Amino acid sequence: MSEGAVKKEEKPRKFQAIRGTRDLLPPETALWNRVEQTAHEVFATFGFGEIRLPIFESTELFARSIGAETDVVSKEMYTFDGSAEFYARFREIKMVGEGAGRRGTLAEMLPEEMISLRPEATASVCRAYIEHGMQQLPQPVKLYYMGPMFRRERPQKGRYRQFYQIGAEVLGGSDAPAIDAEVIEMVMTFFDRLELQGVQLDINSIGCRECRPKYVELLRAELFKVKDKLGPDSQRRIETNPLRVLDSKLESEQPIIAKLPRIADHLCEDCAKHYAAVKHQLEMRGVLYRENWRLVRGLDYYMRTTFEITAQGLGSQNAVCGGGRYDGLVELLGGPPTKGIGFAIGEDRLILSLQESGKGPVQQGRDVYIAWMGERAQATAVRAAKDLRKAGFSVELPPVEQKFGKALGQADKLGAKYALILGDNEVSEGLWTLKKLADGSQAKFTEPDLLDHLRKSKPVSS
Ligand code: HAM
Repeated sequence: MSEGAVKKEEKPRKFQAIRGTRDLLPPETALWNRVEQTAHEVFATFGFGEIRLPIFESTELFARSIGAETDVVSKEMYTFDGSAEFYARFREIKMVGEGAGRRGTLAEMLPEEMISLRPEATASVCRAYIEHGMQQLPQPVKLYYMGPMFRRERPQKGRYRQFYQIGAEVLGGSDAPAIDAEVIEMVMTFFDRLELQGVQLDINSIGCRECRPKYVELLRAELFKVKDKLGPDSQRRIETNPLRVLDSKLESEQPIIAKLPRIADHLCEDCAKHYAAVKHQLEMRGVLYRENWRLVRGLDYYMRTTFEITAQGLGSQNAVCGGGRYDGLVELLGGPPTKGIGFAIGEDRLILSLQESGKGPVQQGRDVYIAWMGERAQATAVRAAKDLRKAGFSVELPPVEQKFGKALGQADKLGAKYALILGDNEVSEGLWTLKKLADGSQAKFTEPDLLDHLRKSKPVSS
């Protein structure tokens, strides 16, 4: 027996998708495609162009932009090293086993450049903006992206370790409140086009480098006064990030949080003006919003405008979109001072919500199932399939001959609209039989007439 062959008594291992990842299958993928196609269309009408980014980047890029202390960076990233040198040394450690201590611990051997699977894409867009000198282009630069992101969170409904985002960023130019409002208007237009149900937009302003630190200190002082009444997470956050206490869902903390000072009352004059103008601009565009002073978001790069959108049918993971302004992030990454604002939609959640409200795709059937019998008929069937497909019809051409009864059953199962019956008679007469499966009616057509007839009836797949 060759080395690679499986021994008879050994059952081959059954592989399953890694926890928190999943396969997306037809017919659901048709809905994903429709959603993505709609995003391409709607975003283009707002003048956005698509950017395609790498799936992995330098760990430091994410640590610097999202913040080393955030949950995303400190706990949830998939980080590894790609250098050949590291793997060679790693193998060595494994070979010498535990005794490898003499060569230093694994942590000490970690090389300079670590790589992480992207947990989000704003950092990458900023990196690309700098790398390609996009500040030379007419400003602002408006980009959108879609694709998988990776976070090692506890999986549950609407929360995955590989999930998909559709996002957009506006970089450069001014920080005019009309830009904030237009970006939000664009997401709302997209959701509207998809007929997403129960859409609720929450907005807030979290101030700037001037006013936020003062508010955070005030909040910290107030939180210290009620420390004993808070849970362990919030107690810890008084030190690390008091703003995140406002995010708490813990029932017992709600009355305490309700009495805390609100950032809207502590914004500096410029931030207060900006926030008022964003609200005015939203109203001008007919975008309904709710002010939510507790909306702080979990990533460090935000300033001023923050927003989140929830939708129906998602349970506790109901945020379908999050975003905000991040002036200064490009500079933090070594680029010129640059304004920035954007959002990311959780595509998995968007799809879930659409499905829950019955907006899933209709089962994708075939337009025509070609039931053929006999060698001559197969040649005709192949030609017919080619012509029908060229005309845009979805065609199922069985690879082997079937009895007509069985073929019609199969056509039914596949949800075909028509069966094209091609037997010896049809081929020699040059008259093809077309059976409408919904009512069983059938008629004979010449080849060109048949195509004409089908063209007049709308294809299922369109
Ligand atoms: P985020 O709030 O971390 O923001 O994520 C945006 C959206 O991605 C969330 O509202 C949610 O719908 C979805 N999402 C996040 N984590 C998961 C997960 N584990 N499973 C399923 N869906 C998830 C950002 O990522 C920012 N980059 C958004 C942004 C762009 N801000 C400015 N520009």
